[in-house]
Amino acid sequence: MASIDQTIQLIRIGEQRGAGSSTCSSALAEGPWEHDNEGYGPGASIADPLPSDAPRQGIIPREYRNATAAELDLRIRAAKHALGDRLVILGHFYQRDEIVRYADFLGDSFQLAQAAKTKPNAEYIVFCGVHFMAETADILSRAEQAVILPNLAAGCSMADMAEIDSVTDCWEELASVLGTASDGSDKQPVLPVTYMNSAASLKAFCGEHGGVVCTSSNAETVLQWAFERGQRVLFFPDQHLGRNTAKKMGIPLEQMPVWDPNKPMGGLTPQQIRDARVILWHGFCSVHKRFTVDQISFARQRHPGVHVIVHPECTMEVVDAADEHGSTELIKKRVEAAPAGSIFAIGTEINMVQRLANEHPDKTIFCLDSIICPCSTMYRIHPSYLAWVLESLERGELLNRITVPEAIAAPARVALERMLALKPATDRRSA
Ligand code: 13P
Ligand code: SF4
Repeated sequence: MASIDQTIQLIRIGEQRGAGSSTCSSALAEGPWEHDNEGYGPGASIADPLPSDAPRQGIIPREYRNATAAELDLRIRAAKHALGDRLVILGHFYQRDEIVRYADFLGDSFQLAQAAKTKPNAEYIVFCGVHFMAETADILSRAEQAVILPNLAAGCSMADMAEIDSVTDCWEELASVLGTASDGSDKQPVLPVTYMNSAASLKAFCGEHGGVVCTSSNAETVLQWAFERGQRVLFFPDQHLGRNTAKKMGIPLEQMPVWDPNKPMGGLTPQQIRDARVILWHGFCSVHKRFTVDQISFARQRHPGVHVIVHPECTMEVVDAADEHGSTELIKKRVEAAPAGSIFAIGTEINMVQRLANEHPDKTIFCLDSIICPCSTMYRIHPSYLAWVLESLERGELLNRITVPEAIAAPARVALERMLALKPATDRRSA
């Protein structure tokens, strides 16, 4: 079966018909450089507002934009070979197949954070993922190592929904209601927990305020840790991961109000704040927001016996309707462990789902959403950019380096190391 990129090109020329033959944007068939400066680019977050200070890439040389896939392949392989052990390429599961094939290590955001620490001898860490992941790799790797993001515009619309000034304002407003003194059992009034999908400044904020980072593979373990130290948790930026995790831990919905940063006091009353166990930031992932309960019902009608597994960035209704939820790594493990003939409907990014389908031809694997709509920003890492940064490195030119200033990196490292010291939950079966 074709990769997502190949499928998109087949749709463009009208050669793919039937199921899986429509995309959320015809612009997906174009090169990412066609959309520089316009927004997040084609894909699930195309309608999300791009912050004015979000990094822009700038146009790369024509020779890379015009090169064929075969030429780029040869050039990437040659540059990778020439750089040898000086280089390590990390790739997230959501990357296109045309990038994944060059990754020395493929993983979810937790595994990639660990991987950044375990290659201390590589001079260059080329991160095929998104900006917050590259920042995390820079924070956790040695100072002498350079982390490179092939396309600087590969951000994350969810991460951009919480920025440091509004989180700081929120913190001060919460303190005006709750005070700052710990209770008799030494628990602070609120403890900040940030999802990995956030800017380094927010991880630093957590490090400075007794808080911690979590990923989708360890959110429950992290929240348990947080409740041992705080009476409440302020969870940002993803309300859905926060809600799904806290609900699974038995926290009632009334004790999980949503903080809207565009409203005074987050749109909450002092009583709601006092009664809260988890204050959820008003953020979401545009990729996972596309999945619906109707899609699950449709999959069950068409495929009796189907196992529905979704990522916890999906809404609570979708997570509740699914058979199981978990991080990308958990989804991958479940598919690998299932016997031949199993049927999976998966609610996560389409490049990963399609890859699982291609790798397991003895199983029926499909995306809950029949419309092809990749993560806009993951999709910005195109082989042209990878060839460009690798050949530049070969010439001794370091392009697109991601550097987190030490004043931010030091407290962010504290919050990240707190997370890495916790054991990720291994089994997250929801049903
Ligand atoms: P994980 O890799 O932690 O499962 O997260 C998915 C995601 O949305 C990354 O942006
Ligand atoms: Fe961000 Fe969602 Fe894309 Fe992950 S899948 S990088 S959370 S927009």
